[in-house]
Amino acid sequence: MYKRSTWHSPERWRRSWWPARFADWLTTSKSMTRRMKRRCKKVNIEVLFSAWGRALPDECEKLQLLAREQVFIREIMMICDNEPWLYARTIIPQKALIGKFQRIKNLNNVPLGKVLYKDTSIKRTPFEVALIQPENPFCKKLEIKQAVWARRSMFIWRQKEILLSEIFLPKMQERLEQI
Ligand code: PHB
Repeated sequence: MYKRSTWHSPERWRRSWWPARFADWLTTSKSMTRRMKRRCKKVNIEVLFSAWGRALPDECEKLQLLAREQVFIREIMMICDNEPWLYARTIIPQKALIGKFQRIKNLNNVPLGKVLYKDTSIKRTPFEVALIQPENPFCKKLEIKQAVWARRSMFIWRQKEILLSEIFLPKMQERLEQI
């Protein structure tokens, strides 16, 4: 049976549970794209989905959405030297699709950080971290057969909230272990 993931503040996960080389990737608030560029020759963003759809149960709970509500979804894969390293999914509730957040709709392969990071009027909530199990819909969608670490946080602008979840993919973990 599908169990909802347990999202905790990073402090609540015992650090020893995290693969050591990986721990600071889970909590850095700096640009993930720039960080990856230091590790790989080529980083590119592949847009998997950018359209209206339904949020997953974890996302509905966090954003206090009804399951049937339509939300705008941006899903991307960050590809480093031809390997998928990170899957990122942004949920924008209909009422938040205004002003600055509206630009996310047409970003294509420009990283989300370009819109959100430099803007001081957009606040970010503290990260929550989860170990996502293979039976979770995230893993099912991505055909991942092992547990993977993920983090999420909300961006808030004019009391409108959007949610970004990032999943660190097995290939990334393998590569970091080799370096
Ligand atoms: C995105 O462009 O949607 C994106 C890029 C990098 C991230 C998260 C989201 O770490």
